[in-house]
Amino acid sequence: MSIHDFERYPLTFGPSPVHRLDRLTEHLGGADVWAKREDVNSGLAFGGNKTRKLEYIVPDVLASGADTLVSIGGYQSNHTRQVAAVAAKLGLKCRLVQEKWVDWDDPVNDTVGNILLSRIMGADVRLDPNGFDIGLRPSWEEAIAEVEAAGGRPYAIPAGASEHRLGGLGFASWAYEVAEQERALGVFFDTIVVCTVTGSTHAGMIAGFAALEDAGGRPRRVIGIDASATIDKTRGQVGRIARNTAALIGLERELRDEEITVLEGWAGDLYGVPVASTVEAIRLSGRLEGMILDPVYEGKSMAGLVELVGSGAIPKDSTVLYAHLGGQPALNAYSGVFA
Ligand SMILES: Cc1ncc(COP(=O)(O)O)c(C=O)c1O
Repeated sequence: MSIHDFERYPLTFGPSPVHRLDRLTEHLGGADVWAKREDVNSGLAFGGNKTRKLEYIVPDVLASGADTLVSIGGYQSNHTRQVAAVAAKLGLKCRLVQEKWVDWDDPVNDTVGNILLSRIMGADVRLDPNGFDIGLRPSWEEAIAEVEAAGGRPYAIPAGASEHRLGGLGFASWAYEVAEQERALGVFFDTIVVCTVTGSTHAGMIAGFAALEDAGGRPRRVIGIDASATIDKTRGQVGRIARNTAALIGLERELRDEEITVLEGWAGDLYGVPVASTVEAIRLSGRLEGMILDPVYEGKSMAGLVELVGSGAIPKDSTVLYAHLGGQPALNAYSGVFA
């Protein structure tokens, strides 16, 4: 079995764009920095990393005969917005549990950005007072039971589509896409930097790049930057999903611990709350590149990249690929940060 044996339902435009960040590279004065843009990967409600993961889950949804997608996230979850878009595209109903993952007192936090888009797309959006947790949640299980009790046929998609058997495949295939783009562009990315929270984006990349390396590819580092502020849970989830995905795509060995690198230091104390380095990284990318990052995820991973390049932990002669995973709609609930 390899990644190519899994069915993929097209939800994206095709390979996502890869381009060099010229002015950021010049500003950092070391390491050649490029971006691969999942924030513009699809016409479905602004796309993002979950859209890619869902390409490998939709065939299972369709085979199941379900009529309702049920999923969960915070008020400003990018994931639930992408699930709502996919439900609309497939003509399915959508039930979303939106928990109070972030104690963020912006008065429009539960009305603008992602949650607004999910409502526009017809999802049944229900607010829930529970706090942040990337694991499987009782509120989500209750929503599934409610859909069933009302005579519906739910298909359950966990937070971030991560704790799903097929959740790592989207980004295992991303690794193969990168390898093809490298051949076309004549570059090699020795270091990948990616934001990680529920884990299957980073985990899928680890599995995919390990398979490529075992097939004769050059080794590279895949650095996950934690934005969960619950580092042990995220590390555990990344490791578990990476190993499951590696087995699924036919890797004939166990992943080594050193292949699973989740770094902490840029999440601040709380998931969803930007710190000074997050805001600085957002301004830097905006001013130098016109590339917009969000305050929950990508601003934190870019802060990590900037510091790792600045300190030399990512060496000057490196060629780095920054995975931009989307997430900009949430900015609308953070306008006060930039006022
Ligand atoms: C914009 C964005 N970046 C990064 C992540 C982290 O991805 P994952 O949950 O697969 O670790 C998410 C989702 O959680 C996201 O929406």
